[in-house]
Amino acid sequence: MDKLIFSHVYKSFRNRIILEDVCIELKRGMIYGFIGPNGSGKTVILKMAAGLLRPTKGNIYLDSRTLGKDIDFPPSMGILIENPGFLAHYSGLQNLLYLTKIKGLIGRSEVEAAMEKAGILDAASQKTGQYSLGMKQRLGIAQVIMEDPELMILDEPMNGLDQKGIAEIRALLLEQKRQGKMILLASHTREDITYLCDQIYFIQDRKVQSIPKVSPITAPH
Ligand SMILES: Nc1ncnc2c1ncn2[C@@H]1O[C@H](COP(=O)(O)OP(=O)(O)OP(=O)(O)O)[C@@H](O)[C@H]1O
Ligand SMILES: [Mg+2]
Repeated sequence: MDKLIFSHVYKSFRNRIILEDVCIELKRGMIYGFIGPNGSGKTVILKMAAGLLRPTKGNIYLDSRTLGKDIDFPPSMGILIENPGFLAHYSGLQNLLYLTKIKGLIGRSEVEAAMEKAGILDAASQKTGQYSLGMKQRLGIAQVIMEDPELMILDEPMNGLDQKGIAEIRALLLEQKRQGKMILLASHTREDITYLCDQIYFIQDRKVQSIPKVSPITAPH
């Protein structure tokens, strides 16, 4: 997959318009950041990119295929949205192994490698019901990367992570980008966005605007 294109996308729920005329073109090997106030539509955009919500109007293309028409979901995708729901009575490893059964692409060694990269391998055999918020988040990130997807969609991936965790996950995402992945990220943390993203989209008043990565310094010296 080289490109993901939103072409004049509108999204409404009942009669409430959430997003209007969204036109964006996303490429592989890039990290895209979506920012905006609570309720502005960041999660809705990410869910549409993932094929989990359909546009009310307009189209989303993956290269030459239309999402929701030619394909239901991006075929090679890892997604972390809101609080990842894991089976509390299964260990972290068991949860991920269970999820690999959907596609049958990978086995235990790949799952463990992903857990290692996400810094959660030490807790692999602990039940996720006993995980802290940051541990669940790390397991969610392991789940995103474990099948080595071309497209990664991460909603607030640094939630609940400590400083060390944030630095580790930043490094991990930059490594994924170098491997040519396309990464979509929603975040409230300005540093994540400026440090990680090649392009930033700001959502406000139903519109998605591309903004310069580094804001110009306006204060006088
Ligand atoms: N399934 C749904 N049905 C009805 N309205 C919805 C649905 N999903 C989202 N919305 C509405 O769409 C708007 C955008 O929601 P969204 O979750 O995308 O915001 P967000 O930018 O991710 O906010 P936050 O920063 O709090 O995560 C909100 O007004 C929300 O109430
Ligand atoms: Mg959200």
